[in-house]
Amino acid sequence: MPMNRTHQTDLIVALDFPRADKALEIVEKFSDLPVIFKVGFELFMAAGPEFVRELVHRKCRVFLDLKFHDIPNTVAKAALQASLMHVEMFTVHLSGGSAMIKAAATALAEIPALRPKMLGVSVLTSFDDVCWSQVTKAITGHASDVADSVAGLVEHATAWGVDGVVCSALELGFIREQFPNLYTIVPGIRPEGFEASDQARVMTPAEAAALGASAIVVGRPITEASDPRKMAEDILKELSLVKISA
Ligand code: C5P
Repeated sequence: MPMNRTHQTDLIVALDFPRADKALEIVEKFSDLPVIFKVGFELFMAAGPEFVRELVHRKCRVFLDLKFHDIPNTVAKAALQASLMHVEMFTVHLSGGSAMIKAAATALAEIPALRPKMLGVSVLTSFDDVCWSQVTKAITGHASDVADSVAGLVEHATAWGVDGVVCSALELGFIREQFPNLYTIVPGIRPEGFEASDQARVMTPAEAAALGASAIVVGRPITEASDPRKMAEDILKELSLVKISA
């Protein structure tokens, strides 16, 4: 069990919509719920930084999930723009390596008052061991399983300057044991009875919370529900029932 988790697991709602008005419907319905809104590629491509600024203007907590992965200078400048937008957190790919992540951390340190959390994406939750071993074999000549790659990446990540990591619930156990204070965001969450769709490594909200997730990301189970607000409320209730062992 986690050693240092002192607060309940946060719920991050993935606003994966092709239009701002669709996303705003959810934001308005959820205005009094304690959730964080995640803006990813689809919505950012459709509605752009203006949408992110609109959420911040409405005093929403925003997680900008654009998974930066580029040369260090480019990622450092993108990280600075994310902080100027006043988002609470944003993502980079850990496979971008030390120079890229350290450059982003240095850029963030320039405006400490605005500094968002920088989260490192380890291995996407849509990968299973078979698909991941194809990728690692193609790159290195050796097949690695997901757990080994996540462990290796997370170990470096903490030294490189990220504030937390994005991982699947299946890797939470060993991450919590080795890095009890690391902020962990867990996608691939499926409430009981929900199909996994393209997610390969899934767990229920309560299971991920019991394993010590700092926050869970839920997209389609909420956005495609007949009553999204009720689904979010049910998940918040499920999370609140999980005991915290601080
Ligand atoms: O609809 P679903 O609940 O599967 O949405 C999961 C969200 O989390 C998506 O926006 C996806 O981009 C994001 N995500 C993920 N796996 C990661 C990182 C982010 O599924 N490793």
